[in-house]
Amino acid sequence: MCGIVGYTGLQDAKEILLKGLEKLEYRGYDSAGIAVKNEEGVTIFKEKGRIADLRAEVDEDVSAHTGIGHTRWATHGVPSQDNAHPHQSASGRFTLVHNGVIENYAILKREYLQDVTFKSDTDTEVIVQLIERFVNEGRDVEEAFRHTLTLLKGSYALALLDAENTEVIYVAKNKSPLLIGVGEDFNVVASDAMAMLQVTDQFLELMDKEMVIVTKEDVTIKNLNNEEVSREPYTAELDASDIEKGTYPHYMLKEIDEQPAVIRKIIQAYQNENDELMIDFNIAEAVSGADRIYIVACGTSYHAGLIGKQFIEKMAKIPVEVHVASEFTYNMPLLSEKPLFIFISQSGETADSRAVLVAIKELGHKALTITNVPGSTLSREADFTLLLHAGPEIAVASTKAYTAQVAVLAILANVVAKFRNEKIDFDLVKELGMVATAMVALCDSKEEMESIAREFLSVTRNCFFIGRSLDYYVGLEGALKLKEISYIQAEGFAGGELKHGTIALIEEGTPVVALATQEGVNLSIRGNVKEVAARGANPCIISMKGLEEDDDRFVIPKVHELLTPLISVIPLQLIAYYAALHRECDVDKPRNLAKSVTVE
Ligand code: F6R
Repeated sequence: MCGIVGYTGLQDAKEILLKGLEKLEYRGYDSAGIAVKNEEGVTIFKEKGRIADLRAEVDEDVSAHTGIGHTRWATHGVPSQDNAHPHQSASGRFTLVHNGVIENYAILKREYLQDVTFKSDTDTEVIVQLIERFVNEGRDVEEAFRHTLTLLKGSYALALLDAENTEVIYVAKNKSPLLIGVGEDFNVVASDAMAMLQVTDQFLELMDKEMVIVTKEDVTIKNLNNEEVSREPYTAELDASDIEKGTYPHYMLKEIDEQPAVIRKIIQAYQNENDELMIDFNIAEAVSGADRIYIVACGTSYHAGLIGKQFIEKMAKIPVEVHVASEFTYNMPLLSEKPLFIFISQSGETADSRAVLVAIKELGHKALTITNVPGSTLSREADFTLLLHAGPEIAVASTKAYTAQVAVLAILANVVAKFRNEKIDFDLVKELGMVATAMVALCDSKEEMESIAREFLSVTRNCFFIGRSLDYYVGLEGALKLKEISYIQAEGFAGGELKHGTIALIEEGTPVVALATQEGVNLSIRGNVKEVAARGANPCIISMKGLEEDDDRFVIPKVHELLTPLISVIPLQLIAYYAALHRECDVDKPRNLAKSVTVE
């Protein structure tokens, strides 16, 4: 969480930094700030709230060619102007922005900075005060910066300005993402290439425990032993239009609508010249050879993992366990003899998942990352990667990345099944094509979803989602979507489980969304609906063509039963969207959240 930017060059830094922060706002949006540096010194603007609030505070007359900026998702210290970045050292000479968490900040403060008066409650301020302390003790700035880095425990992406050297930005990275963008007569710093596509598509990747000295002419990368590292830039394959909303009122709605195209792109990306599905031979071999697969993920990606388990077990016949990443490292299950780990992560940066990846790599196990972001940390550090090809997902609530994850897991299971000579009695390419077509019809059902949202959710304080088998997992995802963007308390349950306690919460009018897309459990889930309806609930049944009954509120097109999670989730995404809209919530940037969760 948090996003940082930096610019040094010939243009006015302010606007480039602000535009960059607008593109990084998905990483956190409770406060923001920039610091710009000219011959007269460093000027800081910072504000609680969104980048728009910061923009309103920035003095247009201040002109500078170098600067750094930050958008924050609070970890240490409440969202406030004092805790907003940039932070300055006691004398004001050094100014710093930071993304990450310094775990030993209290120890460092006690050991080195007892006599310093702190202006914020953040862990970040310790870093900038330490740099000044070491400079005051006689080290040059670069050496003081490096020495400080050797003392830090935790994660950081840092950009530092020195008021006495107007044209340099000192940069460092450990565990938090950071890139250097290169150009002619300028260089930039960004947590994500998207922020700086406005000026360049050439980027240098940074590795953990590297520091960089950035001027407008040069980028010097060094390791913490002060040895120079040479690295070539790569071209960021991002289309600037991918990250614009276009005519859509919200990114979330645009991304929901992109799902059919994403499924078609995935089919293409994983087809060979004979139109057969294929994945890298080494991946198929590694997965096929495992005696047990451990899927590790968080949130929506975890829900995709639950569906992936069914695909892999049913098609490839390999046992699968699915784990929430944040619980895994201290509750590690007894591992099988030949485990294979699959990390599912839209961003590829989620710290909870990465902690597990680091732990299992230390044990010598192999890992495959399924991610939307090539070159992301989880991709780089795993043995293998499968890409989602969903294009940038900007709305905090994940939609198209979820369906892309489910589709890629289906392809993985299918290819591995063939690799193991397991019999598959359907053509996945054809079935996914039908899914894409069904998705188009569902994306066109916005008016109906809006009226369901209005009818069922406009005045409620809670809502339940029930389903059995695959529908249960989709219900979990529907509940997560609804709660995170509309703030209605929503929970997903296995249809059979409600009566074991939660049914006590059913009151007159409580909305219960029930999914009925699985033939084998159709009667049972309908029985569960009757149970809650008898206690006053307001049921909303979403069924599949062929299984529908008269009272069903909405019927989705028929697709292969295993693939229903790809389409039954779309009405739930839309219902959540319209519920949030009716409640006047900030759909794309729900409170307290951030898109990329880079703290554990
Ligand atoms: C919810 C949502 C989150 C993420 C979770 C993991 O809409 O997006 O639950 O799924 O934070 O993020 P990734 O997939 O980037 O690891």
